[in-house]
Amino acid sequence: MTAYIRPRLMSDVYSTITDADRDVQARLADVLERRAADPQQRDMLSAYLSDIDVPEAANLLDIGCGTGAVSRELARRLPQGRIIGLDPSPVFLATARQLASDLPNLSFSEGDARNLSYDNCSFDAVIYHTTLSHIPSPETALNEAFRVLRSGGILAVFDGNYTTTTLANGAFDPLQACADAAMAALVHDRWLIQKLPALVRHVGFSIIKQRSLGIVETDEPDYMLTIADRGADVLAAEGRISADLALALKNEARRRVGSGCFYGSIAYGSLVAGKPL
Ligand SMILES: C[S@@+](CC[C@H](N)C(=O)[O-])C[C@H]1O[C@@H](n2cnc3c(N)ncnc32)[C@H](O)[C@@H]1O
Repeated sequence: MTAYIRPRLMSDVYSTITDADRDVQARLADVLERRAADPQQRDMLSAYLSDIDVPEAANLLDIGCGTGAVSRELARRLPQGRIIGLDPSPVFLATARQLASDLPNLSFSEGDARNLSYDNCSFDAVIYHTTLSHIPSPETALNEAFRVLRSGGILAVFDGNYTTTTLANGAFDPLQACADAAMAALVHDRWLIQKLPALVRHVGFSIIKQRSLGIVETDEPDYMLTIADRGADVLAAEGRISADLALALKNEARRRVGSGCFYGSIAYGSLVAGKPL
């Protein structure tokens, strides 16, 4: 009998995070903290945070804060500021509160980027760190950010340019199928970064600074190996390949690490914009 192959890949778990099992959310919480601790991720964060000019006592809103890694960094950088991390996942927020217990200027709140409960003009800056690509109808979220920002307030968006995710080191490389499947399953809109300049201008922001950033992993590819594995699992779960082939692809990724020819990379983009005075 011919196996049935579903035409669409799985949908982005983050975009419907409150529907996910608590175990899945707990595992993702761990992934978010490990990713945030990665030196390349920290370098990218420092680079674009240096583009944000806010007063020392600023009110900041970190939307889609997850376990609060970026919120904590903001709270440490602005000890006189007031930072709020917002996320729909109570599981992520429980971890976020635990990890921020030593930061009195940081609090967390449950909510949705597309329907904020804050007053007009109540924040000096709004941050979306690898969040906007996971939100269906990002224009609604950006309109809300515009509404809650004061005149002259700053919008900062940092996200993966996930169409660039590569595990290939040649044409027709089978590991690239894993990269593509993982991105399709993990990210609601892989083209968000390319669409972002037009989106923010349409909402009314003026662009201040954009950067192209990225990560590359070769010898100790912690994060990029998880992409290979997740992609192989997605392809198997969708019935596109057998469990044996999924295992073979994961082994191939590890063989490449062992023989020094593994290459995994993702470009990221940042955009800082202002609400006109
Ligand atoms: C990839 S995680 C990024 C988390 C955090 N910013 C970080 O970089 O560690 C994406 C986050 O977006 C959140 N999210 C998904 N849909 C959302 C929505 N509609 N409004 C606000 N946040 C949302 C998820 O719960 C998740 O925490």
